[in-house]
Amino acid sequence: MRVTKSQINKFLKNVSEAAKLISDCVEAEGFIHVTSHLDADGITAAGIIGRALTRLGGTFRLRVERWMDDNVVDEIAGDKPTLAIFTDLGGGYLDLLSGKLSDQRVIILDHHQPIGEASSDIMHINPHLHGIDGSRDLSGAGIAYFVAKALDEKNVDLACIAVAGALGDIQDKYEQRSLGGANREIVEDAVDSGYLRIEKDLLFFGRETRPIHKALAYTTSPYIPGLSGEEDKSLAFLASVEITPKHEDKWRALRDLSSDEKMRLSSALSDYLISRGFPSDVALSLVGTVYTLTREEPWTPLRDAREFTVLLNATGRMNRAGLGVTICMGDRGKALDEAGEMLNAYRRSIAKCLSWVNEKPNRIEELDSIYVVRGEGFIDEKMISAVSTILSSSLPKPMKPLLAYSKVSGEDMAKVSARTVALLTEKGLDLGEILRVAGEECHGRGGGHDIAAGAQVPMKNIASFIELADKLVKKQLEGVELGG
Ligand code: C5P
Ligand code: C5P
Ligand code: ZN
Repeated sequence: MRVTKSQINKFLKNVSEAAKLISDCVEAEGFIHVTSHLDADGITAAGIIGRALTRLGGTFRLRVERWMDDNVVDEIAGDKPTLAIFTDLGGGYLDLLSGKLSDQRVIILDHHQPIGEASSDIMHINPHLHGIDGSRDLSGAGIAYFVAKALDEKNVDLACIAVAGALGDIQDKYEQRSLGGANREIVEDAVDSGYLRIEKDLLFFGRETRPIHKALAYTTSPYIPGLSGEEDKSLAFLASVEITPKHEDKWRALRDLSSDEKMRLSSALSDYLISRGFPSDVALSLVGTVYTLTREEPWTPLRDAREFTVLLNATGRMNRAGLGVTICMGDRGKALDEAGEMLNAYRRSIAKCLSWVNEKPNRIEELDSIYVVRGEGFIDEKMISAVSTILSSSLPKPMKPLLAYSKVSGEDMAKVSARTVALLTEKGLDLGEILRVAGEECHGRGGGHDIAAGAQVPMKNIASFIELADKLVKKQLEGVELGG
């Protein structure tokens, strides 16, 4: 979908109203409460707003949440902020927020499909309200960035953080895995201000920072069976295309390869994927747009924007989202070392989940219209989003969406993560709608984007939830309106 200038202008008018409300609140020495979502987009959004508020001299408190529920909103209300800001969440909980936060001003900066009605005290800035597709054209961090820029032009140095946020939400759906729509303006700001460089290359994980065979083994988008997670096999693969992994006694990184070597490697990988039955667009997705944060030290995980997002997800999933937020706000040194350790632990943990799934063929179970991974007892609920994203990139038949779930520790709830591909959303599949309807039906809560959605449902209802979701997918692809 193309984003028109008039759509952007209407959206930006809303953005400047939000900025005005924020600066008035700071000027009146009000107390601001910022709540954001616990993933890379949410963490970058919080970092951007946090940095902008610090520059304004505001008094504020930041918190990062897995999802919103009555308890979270009660706690926020209990803090009695003058202004409550929600970034990368809130749009799916309009009734809840309207009911419980009637005493404060509320700003929601979200890109999820709105659910419910906002009361007149709530300023809801959401691309969906202007016909801009929030699932691929603008992320939570992007909205936060536009607000920060409206507060102070100096905040253009945060555009590169918003680029990372959009990549964290896998919005690189344009040609050669590039960002488009309203994200394009943010990319331009980041490049123009000298913080971002764009080039086309193989999209290995750690192209600047790791020996090539490790970078190949660490690549999970797409997930390459037999190579992802397998350093020895990746090394052997390089040997098979006559690429020497070392120069003298030093490991070479992807950036050290000649263009001829890169061509050889990328066509061999394409052949490898196609010979295993992958569609050609999956094979082609190994080459794409690389976003490099030029002011970050080479050899750090912040240099490549995609790796940056995995680092932030790692801090979130390891219960240290605050660390990720401070890095987005400019903290380096010890904070970065600590986050780096989390990144390693997070990667190991994902690798463990993936090898459990891949151990037996029936762990990705095929139903009529969906695939299911029943991960309770094996997959940590905090990993289910990432695992679902990775597995969905290499399904035997990508024309069925994937629903993976796990049990929330200490609670009798299941956490569901659903993912699909653009080919299906273009045919009318909307996972956000399906998980919302099935969630409500099963005494839980669901929602999200057409291409990626989530739900929480009581464990005892999970079997009926999956059964219902399977039916709803079929119905929706037959063109039936779900409603409800
Ligand atoms: O809440 P939020 O919008 O930030 O999260 C979107 C989630 O969906 C992210 O975790 C992102 O990784 C995931 N996603 C995905 N595949 C897509 C689009 C989004 O896994 N194609
Ligand atoms: O948790 P997960 O990464 O699978 O979520 C995918 C998307 O669905 C995210 O954008 C998340 O914010 C959204 N979601 C939602 N309502 C829920 C659960 C997830 O809007 N109950
Ligand atoms: Zn988001």
